Amino acid sequence: MGQARMTVADFVSAASARKLTMLTAYDYPTARFLDEAGLDGILVGDSLGDVVLGYPNTLPVTMADMLHHVKAVARGVQKTFLIADMPFLSYQVTPEEALRNAGRFVQEAGAQAVKLEGGKPFTATIRKIVESGIPVMAHLGLTPQSVHRFGGYRVQAREEAAARRLLEDARVVEEAGAFALVLECIPASLAELVTEILTIPTIGIGAGSGCSGQILVLHDLLGMSPERAPKFVKRYRKLGEEISQAAGEFIAEVRDGKYPGREHSFSMSDEVVSRLREEVGKA
Ligand code: KIV
Repeated sequence: MGQARMTVADFVSAASARKLTMLTAYDYPTARFLDEAGLDGILVGDSLGDVVLGYPNTLPVTMADMLHHVKAVARGVQKTFLIADMPFLSYQVTPEEALRNAGRFVQEAGAQAVKLEGGKPFTATIRKIVESGIPVMAHLGLTPQSVHRFGGYRVQAREEAAARRLLEDARVVEEAGAFALVLECIPASLAELVTEILTIPTIGIGAGSGCSGQILVLHDLLGMSPERAPKFVKRYRKLGEEISQAAGEFIAEVRDGKYPGREHSFSMSDEVVSRLREEVGKA
């Protein structure tokens, strides 16, 4: 029997034993490889928009896009805790609509939890989803769905007033029932303080090493995002370059007649081939 599926309770309690690790995934084969790697969580992020679908930001991503990709990832995940990101306008309008959409990720797509961006204004929404039985991961700091309000992707909560608001938001989302909190692109010392005042785990991305765990967008980590990655990203591989090189070798070998070789081809009886050739006048 395979290893049991990690639950939200396992995820939260693991935070007292080790640093939590999470990556994003958007498709079935990648989900299978990541599931083998031993992560604590996989997020089907709405970063899907930027890194897979080629949009300039996450705003055009729809529920239909997310459901399609969460289903694919869920088919590849057996043991890792799976979280679906709620796309722009799927949870902002009313708590009822948010619950309906969160429910679709669990009921139709196989996610175990959802993530949404925002603090105090989403208290009722978080509470409604959690009370209906769906774990919610909150997300504060640089919340990419608010890119136009921020006027770009930049470090958040550096000033005292903004830092105070973030501390308050962090308390509020925990109080509303969130099981964990993503902190994106905020000063390391502030993220450390948030982590100290909360009882739920914090997952940092561009928030220093003082969080309970870390998440990265997979394509950034693998060197597959064509645009320049933000300062906080560590590229562990250069797979984008590998892909171009492999395609270049394929092109050269096909043109030189080196590929496909005999070892990549199927055979049949020479006699049959001769008869067929005679019949079509190509002996
Ligand atoms: O969409 C996403 O991938 C995310 C992570 C960066 C946390 O929200």
